[in-house]
Amino acid sequence: MATKQKTVFFCKECGTESAKWLGQCPSCRAWDSMVEEPVAAKKAKAPISEAGRSVRRAMPEKLSEVQIHNDSRIVTGVDEFDRVLGGGIVDASLVLVGGDPGIGKSTLLLQVCRILADKGVSVLYISGEESVQQIKLRADRLGDFGRDMLLMSETSLDNIEEIVIEKKPDVVVIDSIQTMYREDISASPGSVSQVRETTGSLLRLAKGQGVTIFIVGHVTKEGVVAGPRVLEHMVDTVLYFEGDNSSDYRVLRAVKNRFGSTNEVGVFEMCSDGLHEVRNPSEYMLAGTPVGEPGSVITATVEGTRPILLEIQALCCQTSFNLPRRTSVGIDFNRINLLMAVMEKRMGLKLSFCDAYVNVAGGMKVNEPALDLPIVLALLSSYTNKPLPEKTFCFGEIGLTGEVRGVSQAEQRVSEAEQLGYEYCILPKVNAKIIKSKSIKLIGVSHVNELSRLLK
Ligand code: TYD
Ligand code: MG
Repeated sequence: MATKQKTVFFCKECGTESAKWLGQCPSCRAWDSMVEEPVAAKKAKAPISEAGRSVRRAMPEKLSEVQIHNDSRIVTGVDEFDRVLGGGIVDASLVLVGGDPGIGKSTLLLQVCRILADKGVSVLYISGEESVQQIKLRADRLGDFGRDMLLMSETSLDNIEEIVIEKKPDVVVIDSIQTMYREDISASPGSVSQVRETTGSLLRLAKGQGVTIFIVGHVTKEGVVAGPRVLEHMVDTVLYFEGDNSSDYRVLRAVKNRFGSTNEVGVFEMCSDGLHEVRNPSEYMLAGTPVGEPGSVITATVEGTRPILLEIQALCCQTSFNLPRRTSVGIDFNRINLLMAVMEKRMGLKLSFCDAYVNVAGGMKVNEPALDLPIVLALLSSYTNKPLPEKTFCFGEIGLTGEVRGVSQAEQRVSEAEQLGYEYCILPKVNAKIIKSKSIKLIGVSHVNELSRLLK
């Protein structure tokens, strides 16, 4: 009698394993995320830390005697990309580039490969999704490839390992991890166990052979394909490439980085000949901003070390339902509800009869408390149908009692706006007391009930 194959259940969001099916993952709380998969072969379960252990057994060292080597980095020259990586590509690192399908991950990495190849770095680009001819077609759109790079269309990791050991490239791109498989694992490509084990093999390959490996991972909302979240803990650096499908604007964000800060973002624009760096995102974000319209407010947010000016738009109108509709794009929806509750209670507005829509124009996603004041001003401006004075921008956090609290890096925000010709700044009083600005008139506020008089 054939023995029944053993199976286990995995959460396809976070990779948690369970012996039986569960409606909700106990670890990441995702609903209906458990998928059944065959148990991975024993051999495949080798611990990942083997990478460093294979040569000799590690011994404890004294902290004072540990030698520091400076990470050797390859600087690509694409500033937006280098900055996100913490100053260039670190040797023998494993980098995960995640993002929605079609956002431009393959394009970004191919462009980086082109620059690396020009610098004399040996590059191997392995695609499991596209044929070599398709990659060539894409490469032709991107411009001249001065020096050659190696291309391969392959999905078997065992073959890839052999080729990498034979060709000894400096940089390898694996596009995408969801198409790769190891023969000793019976689960299908894209399943949690395949994705996890192939990444484990790539990690050993990166550390063992001293190659830098970029792994592309698609973020998937549905289906049985495991998302990049499953791998985040295994790799050195996790970058997410995000953006709105309706706009050409793309943000590369470091979510985890063993070799640099995680707050940095790189800004790109998708054009017909590939991705272009956006060196001054503020100007880009503010192109086409309406002047003197109620509901439109300019704010200065800080991404990493970099101030970016953005437009917040709000629309407040009377609801025709019992339960008012509230939607947001680019900002946390719960924050909007909270701020509207504060406005209702502390400013005496009848917002419970209003539908409210709040957007960050331009397709950027922001999650910063300094956006509270601009959101409240945009809602108030739309509610009262009065615009803010021209050439005004604002930032500040709002507490539950309606107080306006100070925010960090206020000086950078003001100086960015100064360069773009702004004249008035509405900001927390505590910040206003410290900052000095020649060309911008600072208007300090300490409570939300001071805001109504600032509108025209
Ligand atoms: P792609 O890099 O294939 O996305 P991913 O690898 O993340 O799935 O990008 C595909 C999109 O980018 C596709 O809609 C076409 C567009 N694109 C351009 O607009 N300009 C270009 O030069 C290239 C190569 C692609
Ligand atoms: Mg792709």
